[in-house]
Amino acid sequence: MTADEKTSLAEFLDAAAAVTGSGYRSAREYHFSDDVVNSSSETAADADAPDSLEKVAAAVRSCTACKLAATRKNAVPGEGVLNPLVMVIGEGPGADEDATGRPFVGRAGQLLDKMLAAIGLSRESNCFIANVIKCRPPANRDPQPDETAACASFLERQIQIIKPRCILCAGRIAAHTLLNTTEPIGRLRGKFIDFQAGDITIPFLATYHPSALLRNEDLKRPAWEDLKLLRGAIEETAH
Ligand code: URA
Repeated sequence: MTADEKTSLAEFLDAAAAVTGSGYRSAREYHFSDDVVNSSSETAADADAPDSLEKVAAAVRSCTACKLAATRKNAVPGEGVLNPLVMVIGEGPGADEDATGRPFVGRAGQLLDKMLAAIGLSRESNCFIANVIKCRPPANRDPQPDETAACASFLERQIQIIKPRCILCAGRIAAHTLLNTTEPIGRLRGKFIDFQAGDITIPFLATYHPSALLRNEDLKRPAWEDLKLLRGAIEETAH
């Protein structure tokens, strides 16, 4: 029914009500079965609502901003708790993550979980796990600049929403992307720096990627030093 038809019908009902003595009602009070909330006002209300992890996840899952959308099985938004002690940021989904839609669930992920557990952390209780890119690059190749650029706002929104106390950056690719540098990971790791995310500054520690530790046992000791540094920083910033 058009708006004009509704107005005419409402006027007719008003007139009928006056005749039958059932009382006056303003035409604006009539409700018609096709009076649906119009989608443009819904969108405006949605835009005004605070951002949320659910909104980011939905946007990630429907994203087609780069070519990885065509080859992914599942996008991998990330998972964990709000206000985590630590946000772990890795590179991007591999085959297991692509198959499940969950971050760090393959061999490297299992090692990551053990590393976190060794310093009292877990994705279930006090961490959030995400990646710089949310879709798997074919054959696990490095993400390309247009792909990291297309994904950047998702990670920025996640950081703004969850407000992690610290960031643990896993591996060269994530560190290079987030710090906009090409310095070797061996020189970036082992020290906290201030990471600016919008209007918040977050202590940021880079370390080796768990897959690198699986390939090279020698990296396990420095990675353990990094974890101890992380634990110390968490305790120092406890409030
Ligand atoms: N490697 C990553 O960097 N991220 C994952 O989610 C899995 C493996």
